Amino acid sequence: MNYIFLIWTLLPFKALAFKDSTFDPEYNFRLRNITGLPYFLYSWIGSYYNGTTTFNLEYLLDGNGNEVCRTFRNKTTTFASESILAVTKTNPDDKGKNPVQIALKSALTDFDFVHGSDMGNEERNLRWQFLSIEHVVPGYTSGSYKPYFNLSLENDLGPPYHITGASNDTGRGVKTVEMNMSSCDDPADTWWGLSFLDHGDYNPEGIPITEPIVSVMFDNQSASFSFNGWFLINNEKGDAMYGEGSIEFLGKIDPLHSDILNKGSNPSWTPTLGFGNSSMNMKFGGESKESMAVSNGVNDWLIFWPVVGLIFGVFI
Ligand SMILES: *[C@@H]1O[C@H](CO)[C@@H](O)[C@H](O)[C@H]1NC(C)=O
Ligand SMILES: *[C@@H]1O[C@H](CO)[C@@H](O)[C@H](O)[C@H]1NC(C)=O
Ligand SMILES: *[C@@H]1O[C@H](CO)[C@@H](O)[C@H](O)[C@H]1NC(C)=O
Ligand SMILES: *[C@@H]1O[C@H](CO)[C@@H](O)[C@H](O)[C@H]1NC(C)=O
Ligand SMILES: *[C@@H]1O[C@H](CO)[C@@H](O)[C@H](O)[C@H]1NC(C)=O
Ligand SMILES: *[C@@H]1O[C@H](CO)[C@@H](O)[C@H](O)[C@H]1NC(C)=O
Ligand SMILES: *[C@@H]1O[C@H](CO)[C@@H](O)[C@H](O)[C@H]1NC(C)=O
Ligand SMILES: *[C@@H]1O[C@H](CO)[C@@H](O)[C@H](O)[C@H]1NC(C)=O
Repeated sequence: MNYIFLIWTLLPFKALAFKDSTFDPEYNFRLRNITGLPYFLYSWIGSYYNGTTTFNLEYLLDGNGNEVCRTFRNKTTTFASESILAVTKTNPDDKGKNPVQIALKSALTDFDFVHGSDMGNEERNLRWQFLSIEHVVPGYTSGSYKPYFNLSLENDLGPPYHITGASNDTGRGVKTVEMNMSSCDDPADTWWGLSFLDHGDYNPEGIPITEPIVSVMFDNQSASFSFNGWFLINNEKGDAMYGEGSIEFLGKIDPLHSDILNKGSNPSWTPTLGFGNSSMNMKFGGESKESMAVSNGVNDWLIFWPVVGLIFGVFI
């Protein structure tokens, strides 16, 4: 696809669209005039956590449903990755009744999400990503508000809130994991791609695939996230294996980028970011001379958002 062409055709329209900095408290977007937030993931009202994700991958059956080759028998692959978890307010247009939106972004290396923020860059630097629903950047419409995961609140009294969910549309919400490791009969590293599965996937061998399960606990201090599901992993040499993966995140609140989490029985937030009424994120308040000066250049920056959204839309 010719992105450059698409980008240029969009620019004049989007530049107009972004003159609007209105804030609609019904919706889940933050103020559009906030400066200093180049990373698009911070566009939503909610809580953001910085932490580490640990991946555990266990190989159980080969591509024909038989015992895996000796190299992978009883083998588990484990690795960890720096990550950001976003638990944010839902959009009233969302189909489904999810209590929150969840996004987990896991970096391949020590990628700086905030400053290395353009979407093409993020895609190259992501180890993994979980999305409960498509996160459509403000000003860019997708038309699809169907969640990738059906989520429900497990407890009556929070915080901490406990949310679990499952999916029949895992492929769109959960990114493929790419790895370099030996193949069945060659110890030299080769490329492998791993995709998580659900009941909706083609399963000619009758593999006992269970629904992928996600579970999240969060309050105004910390959050945990876990994802468990069956996967299929293939390499360039034609090896294929089925297995079970467990992915766990533990993180601490990032107050700078978070709104105030209320204490009601359902998760909700009092918006503060951009309003200058919380000491935790005053930096984005627009009160100081410095941020007023920066705000002159803001509209140019915002032109990039639909581009980001476009690329996002194409890749996800
Ligand atoms: C794998 O583990 C099982 C039980 O945990 C054991 O019986 C079996 O011998 C092991 N296989 C290999 C190849 O180590
Ligand atoms: C969510 O639940 C609805 C109703 O049961 C179902 O139609 C839909 O396919 C589910 N969505 C996903 C992503 O599993
Ligand atoms: C997925 O589909 C299966 C079989 O149709 C159904 O039992 C299950 O409830 C569905 N899961 C979700 C999350 O909608
Ligand atoms: C796999 O190896 C290639 C080539 O060396 C490298 O570019 C890529 O980053 C590696 N992937 C992972 C997940 O380590
Ligand atoms: C978190 O909530 C508790 C009460 O539930 C409150 O005492 C504390 O100040 C809050 N902390 C932050 C950082 O908002
Ligand atoms: C969390 O990570 C973001 C992005 O790297 C950074 O800007 C912020 O200062 C971090 N906050 C904490 C409390 O570590
Ligand atoms: C901050 O200001 C916004 C907009 O006026 C308001 O909705 C929000 O409740 C305020 N937050 C606090 C903590 O006062
Ligand atoms: C952004 O917009 C809000 C609401 O329209 C306004 O209160 C705030 O002062 C604006 N901030 C800047 C930096 O222009």
